Amino acid sequence: MSRARIAAIGLACVLTACSGNAPNQRATSAAELRDPASSSDGARVYITNCSSCHQLDGRGVPGAFPALVANPAVTGNPRAVIAAVKYGLRGKPGRNRAALGRVMPPWQGRLSDRDIAAVVTYIRFAWHNDAPPVTLGDVRAVAPQR
Ligand code: HEC
Repeated sequence: MSRARIAAIGLACVLTACSGNAPNQRATSAAELRDPASSSDGARVYITNCSSCHQLDGRGVPGAFPALVANPAVTGNPRAVIAAVKYGLRGKPGRNRAALGRVMPPWQGRLSDRDIAAVVTYIRFAWHNDAPPVTLGDVRAVAPQR
């Protein structure tokens, strides 16, 4: 893939990220805190906010954006996945060679905690991934990881 094409994809992603949903911080019942977010919400949030970089099939763009399919960072420790989505990641050399120098934007403030729970639940079971859902309470409980 040419540099120009990669740059174009990056720009499209930045534009998509900037047009993300407005925060929706309504009051939440105790039942909602316990319930896993619905998967159809998660698919919608994913298509709108994530698929431009990670692609609809979750396979990412080799050399640019990591695959979310068959990725232990997605199906493993739920707190780490939530932290990545909530607070973002800044490509640390060696940590994820496919994404060297690229940044995963923080979604807190652009997506509600409920939408973060829905999309994390979605990426953990879509495309033959097979990890348990996360709840709104899980998302609220995760603080930035140092
Ligand atoms: C602007 C492009 C872009 C968008 C949009 C984007 N991501 Fe990412 N994402 C990245 C990059 C780049 C990385 C790798 C960052 C790193 O390794 O430090 C990443 C990493 C991740 C990781 C960690 C994967 C790993 O192997 O560690 C998860 C989980 C993730 N993204 C989920 C999402 C979700 C969910 C959304 C939508 C809410 C989303 N991403 C939207 C670019 C993006």
